[in-house]
Amino acid sequence: MPRVRAGFATRFVALILAVLLASAGELSAQQADVPAPAKPKPGAAPEHSGTKKTRTTPRPKARRDRPGFYMGRPIADVMSWQGADWLFRETRVDEEQPEAMLDALKIPPGATVADVGAGAGYHSLRLARRVGPGGTVLATDVQPEMIQLLKQNAQAARVYNIKPLLCSSKNSMLPDGKVDLILMVDVYHECTDPETTLRGLRKALRPGGRLVLVEFRGEAPEVPIKPEHKMTLKQVRREVEPQGFAFVTSLEFLPWQHIIIFDKPVDKEEKTPATPATEGTGASAEQPR
Ligand SMILES: C[S@@+](CC[C@H](N)C(=O)[O-])C[C@H]1O[C@@H](n2cnc3c(N)ncnc32)[C@H](O)[C@@H]1O
Repeated sequence: MPRVRAGFATRFVALILAVLLASAGELSAQQADVPAPAKPKPGAAPEHSGTKKTRTTPRPKARRDRPGFYMGRPIADVMSWQGADWLFRETRVDEEQPEAMLDALKIPPGATVADVGAGAGYHSLRLARRVGPGGTVLATDVQPEMIQLLKQNAQAARVYNIKPLLCSSKNSMLPDGKVDLILMVDVYHECTDPETTLRGLRKALRPGGRLVLVEFRGEAPEVPIKPEHKMTLKQVRREVEPQGFAFVTSLEFLPWQHIIIFDKPVDKEEKTPATPATEGTGASAEQPR
């Protein structure tokens, strides 16, 4: 009997083994049908490797502000030419002290300066006197009516070294690399496309040239100007510096406004020196009204 039991056990084990071997054979036969993984071509990034691949889908656009905002700041409406009289209001001399502001910039006679967003020419006329007959004021604005008023004011004041230019937010209309100083008084916060505008202004400046923004202080609630027409120094720097301008200083002696000075760094390749900061008299040009 034990021999019979041993024979049965042997047959049973043999049967199990046979079943196992058969299924293993079937499995290897199936595996033989699977094509071998393709070898990566020399130099190609392996798929699913986590290394850099050539992008086939369009890159998502950089996150933008909602319309009407730039870097979290609401862009102010452009001041209409119909309010141009306000730009020549009598109280402006005390409120903004334009001559003291321009004195601080030490603009030399003979300089090429741009009054960007010149409006009806309140500062263009003063700049024209400072740079004198050997210098030029390129006065730009996006509103044709402002340019027309500016022309009339320059003519009435017999000032001939102002060149009025109708510009756009995309085209500064300024010559490349020729401008010594760009002045924007109460303008930057209205620019509808600050990045493009700044890029154009940078192109117009000669290396070492200055960009000056005069803006009502956003930090000062007592300054009687609508909030979107004011700017903080921090916000101005945040927006302007990434566009290739170096912060020089902020002058804070005006009652209501920052005078924020940047320059276009001198490219080491170009080795162009900055204009000497000598104060000019420019006495030969006509006096503004
Ligand atoms: C508040 S006014 C100031 C005018 C002048 N700077 C002044 O102080 O008398 C702003 C002027 O900037 C102009 N402006 C707005 N956006 C501009 C831009 N991107 N480029 C040039 N001028 C612009 C407007 O048309 C308007 O005449």
